[in-house]
Amino acid sequence: MGIQISHRAKAIKPSPTLMVSSLAKQMKAEGIDVINFGVGEPDFNTPEVIKDAARKAIDDNFTRYTNTAGIIELRETISAKLKRDNNLDCDPNDILVSPGAKASIVFVLMTVCDPRDEVLIPSPYWVSYTSQVEMVDAFPVLLPTTMSSNFKINAKQLEEAIISLSSPKALILNSPNNPTGSVYTKKELEEIAKVCMKYNILIISDEIYEKLIYDGEEHVSIASISNEVCEHTILINGVSKAYAMTGWRLGYAAGPSKIIKCAGRIQSHTTSCVNSITQKASIAALNEGEESIKAMRSEFEKRRNFLVGELNKIPNIKCCIPKGAFYAMPNVSYYLQNNKIGIKDSIELCEYLLKKFKVAVVPGAAFGAEGFIRFSYATGMGNIKKGLQRFEKGLKESISR
Ligand SMILES: Cc1ncc(COP(=O)(O)O)c(C=O)c1O
Repeated sequence: MGIQISHRAKAIKPSPTLMVSSLAKQMKAEGIDVINFGVGEPDFNTPEVIKDAARKAIDDNFTRYTNTAGIIELRETISAKLKRDNNLDCDPNDILVSPGAKASIVFVLMTVCDPRDEVLIPSPYWVSYTSQVEMVDAFPVLLPTTMSSNFKINAKQLEEAIISLSSPKALILNSPNNPTGSVYTKKELEEIAKVCMKYNILIISDEIYEKLIYDGEEHVSIASISNEVCEHTILINGVSKAYAMTGWRLGYAAGPSKIIKCAGRIQSHTTSCVNSITQKASIAALNEGEESIKAMRSEFEKRRNFLVGELNKIPNIKCCIPKGAFYAMPNVSYYLQNNKIGIKDSIELCEYLLKKFKVAVVPGAAFGAEGFIRFSYATGMGNIKKGLQRFEKGLKESISR
């Protein structure tokens, strides 16, 4: 009969974004010329100044276990960053450095959620949130949004959802957002925060795309709204996206001592500290990486303008202008409804585009956004141009047979 898999493990679905990426990579390895719009990481190299700091850490034999929460020098650097960029006063002891923001979120959810607690998640959402909530035996509650509201929730909708629940515990807010690229304004955040305070809801604010924001927009951390909101917020951030450091694995959670301390205990029995070399490299990133961010951001903005402009020229495709991150999410429902080849949903459309036209995009279904697909523009302009031609050809053929 064999060993039974736990109900928890059975409930976890494989990440569809990674599935698309790995199939595209596999096709590439087989010599097939695939244009990959599925990637969730910057296509730039980690800046030299950061790599130098890592080399020095190795040469200095800085290779042992550190404090679980991260070396104090790093936590002081993060605390200074939170003051500088987000106008937050955060004691270094109220910061937990984890192996990636992904891990930070899981440790925080493990700390605050009891079985059957409810965690509110605006939809479309980053693929991992729902699985992470399920992993701690809590329930994800999706708050649907539409293109007309730029995929943002509003306070009224949030309040109505909270009232209808039996054990609402937390809201996971992600601005700038993956997959929609939407960015909440200060006023919108104030209204959302007010509702969370009224019902004692913890805000888990995932700000990992903070530095990738366009059109001169400003990132506002919801924690900076007031001391009361700060005490109800766990801010999540990291170095992956801002400094092209996805493989180095460092994220952090900052917020109320009580939560951070318990999350640290959980981390101490699971992953322990973050790689010691990465910690030193991240100090350099946070102190000296600003110049490289500017160059990356300006390149991303150029690509975004081109990609979204071209997408909106394709007949019956509509795409909002994403204000941040490096994703665009066009509405493809016309092609789902009118194709002549039996494609019924975004997953089948993406399979068709990948297999027949060698262009990899992620189905909106992965993000709770059926009718849409996600493009990542973390790929060079040449690829974007070529990939768009293939995409348009694929769509055209799907309705013409
Ligand atoms: C919204 C969001 N949060 C968190 C992460 C994870 O970041 P990290 O590499 O720090 O684990 C990602 C990565 O794709 C993301 O898109």
